[in-house]
Amino acid sequence: MQPQPTDRFGRRIHYLRVSLTDHCNLRCIYCMPVRGLTFVPHDELLNASEIETVVRAAVAIGFDKVRLTGGEPTMRTDLVEIVRRVAAVDGVRDLSMTTNAILLPGIIHDLVAAGLKRVNVHVDTLNPDHLKRVMRFGSIAEIWAGIESAVAAGLSPLKLNCVVVRDYNDADVVDLARLTIDREWHVRFIELMPLGTDECARVAMANFVPSSETRARIRAALGDLTPLPNLDHADESRNFRLPGARGVVGFISPVSEPYCGTCNRMRLTADGKLHLCLLHDTELDLKPALRNGNGHTLDAVQSVLLRGIQRKPTGHRLDEGVHTENRRMFQLGG
Ligand code: 5AD
Ligand code: SF4
Repeated sequence: MQPQPTDRFGRRIHYLRVSLTDHCNLRCIYCMPVRGLTFVPHDELLNASEIETVVRAAVAIGFDKVRLTGGEPTMRTDLVEIVRRVAAVDGVRDLSMTTNAILLPGIIHDLVAAGLKRVNVHVDTLNPDHLKRVMRFGSIAEIWAGIESAVAAGLSPLKLNCVVVRDYNDADVVDLARLTIDREWHVRFIELMPLGTDECARVAMANFVPSSETRARIRAALGDLTPLPNLDHADESRNFRLPGARGVVGFISPVSEPYCGTCNRMRLTADGKLHLCLLHDTELDLKPALRNGNGHTLDAVQSVLLRGIQRKPTGHRLDEGVHTENRRMFQLGG
């Protein structure tokens, strides 16, 4: 096995998050505006073979974990092929996907057969009316059918991600947390992060709820939250168990308790840019290496990856009012 590459701050960077598309079939209020969007033109998207090449290059320098994300990755018609190619790269130890699950029922069996190991499903509330307000399109019935298809296909542990938004779904966290009592699911509550400069960033700042508040609300309704040992030091989620529960309740608190010090990730945008830190604008373009590699493509891509790791910022500067301006969450995928 390759030694994992280390950045200037001693962090081992071995986790690649690949955004497959900037399209989505939902329009969560803090992520994607309804109007005024432009998308990456089709010929600028990395194709399945190019994505495989980036993963091969990453594994060759020590990466071992890959997550596919979006936008909504199931909007890619070649998703099964992408999963098959990435899963077949020797050295990819863990392959997972973040999705809103709406399109999962039709493709889950092909995805699992192609090598997908786990999914994180984004769902902000179980309340149908509240879901219409916060995720805007889609319905809880569709998302729930997607969740059930993932469970039936044996993907485990199933993780649900809920972004907590004041006055939209902050009271609904209790019903989501309750799901963990009878199920071995991980339900995680995420603090809003501002990305971009449009109304989504304004929502993220104006409707922010700290994890401490979400935790107190769950504790008041459902009982004590017993802390669980942190088995993976780069797990950004602080995990707990409700009394007698089978599953896990987690809190992801990038704003109130930044975890930049243990960050182990690099991000690839759908148009082939290496995005060095979620909340910074710095990017390196992998496309020249991918498209004009002249027979040395793998080496060229590896050297961009290594350069990116060396230039990875120490952490975010949200407390100074600095955040990503050029990119929004639907282009980076969390
Ligand atoms: N802040 C925090 N999390 C977000 N997500 C999307 N937008 C934001 C935001 N502004 C989460 C969603 C999705 C993942 C890609 O990122 O839950 O699961
Ligand atoms: Fe789509 Fe996820 Fe963004 Fe919601 S948060 S609009 S589901 S990409």
